[in-house]
Amino acid sequence: MTEKARVLVTTPLPDGSETALLQAGHEIVRAGGCTHADLVRLARDADAVVCTLSDRVDEQVLEAGSGRLQVVANVAVGYDNIDLGAASRLGISVCNTPGVLDEATADTAFLLLLAAARNATDAARDLRAGRWTGWRLTGYLGQELTGRTLGLVGYGRIGTAMARRAAGFGLVARHHTRHDTGHPGWTGDLDEMVSEADFVSLHLPLTPETHHLFDEARFRRMKRSAVFVNTSRGAIVDEGALAEALHSGTIFAAGLDVYEHEPRVHPLLLTAPRVVLLPHIGSATEQTRRRMAELACQAAVDVLAGRRPANLVPG
Ligand code: DGY
Repeated sequence: MTEKARVLVTTPLPDGSETALLQAGHEIVRAGGCTHADLVRLARDADAVVCTLSDRVDEQVLEAGSGRLQVVANVAVGYDNIDLGAASRLGISVCNTPGVLDEATADTAFLLLLAAARNATDAARDLRAGRWTGWRLTGYLGQELTGRTLGLVGYGRIGTAMARRAAGFGLVARHHTRHDTGHPGWTGDLDEMVSEADFVSLHLPLTPETHHLFDEARFRRMKRSAVFVNTSRGAIVDEGALAEALHSGTIFAAGLDVYEHEPRVHPLLLTAPRVVLLPHIGSATEQTRRRMAELACQAAVDVLAGRRPANLVPG
């Protein structure tokens, strides 16, 4: 148990979300916008780090903190930015923020699905550029949702929240996970689902197994009318292959919130037709981001007090 700990917070947190840290009497070291080199330096004098998915908490950072650092609390549900193996070897706990961002993220996925299906970005861009010449029967034709099939890749909390939204729009939802979920619509055959689906939406973590899961071959299996949505992690998709699939008409449209090398976006995605691009705002509502920050701060407080936090990532 550490009475008055030093907690490194790498990003400005929403007002009021640090209350648990302050009430526990901990000192907060604010390092908004710190680089990887800063993180390595600052980790040496920290008992806890509250960070985000933009911070690369690799072996170097964890080794620097080793001996003092007890917990890394990521203000995100995904934790692919943290070297879990090194953390476990060094006895440093890792926590994330599951359960509080499911609805906000599913809302963003559905926003992308609708916007991409209805060609909203290209149509809005033409209107603003003065290129809209008036109503045409065949202008800006998109894809209907009702009665068509949504293939969910991953069926955790966000995937099931997406399925609930799909039902309201008359979509038939199927899902693929490695193990049978026991829920209607499950399939173990990703390629079969992808080739039958009218919409495909990703809701799975980035791991070595899911890296570039969607590559050229997989996009080729999809229908020419298919709409592809990704709000999980960019590196699950080979972005060059996706851009090529959009440019060549192999698939109809895509809606993306995440990118392999954020904040860089593949140049061919920027010029592709019928693609809606958002800057990783999946969970970005005032309410959700506050809950995420509160949960991460509480996890740091729990570990520092010698308690097991509710949201400990298995090492
Ligand atoms: C997460 O929590 O992993 C999300 O990507 C943040 O929006």
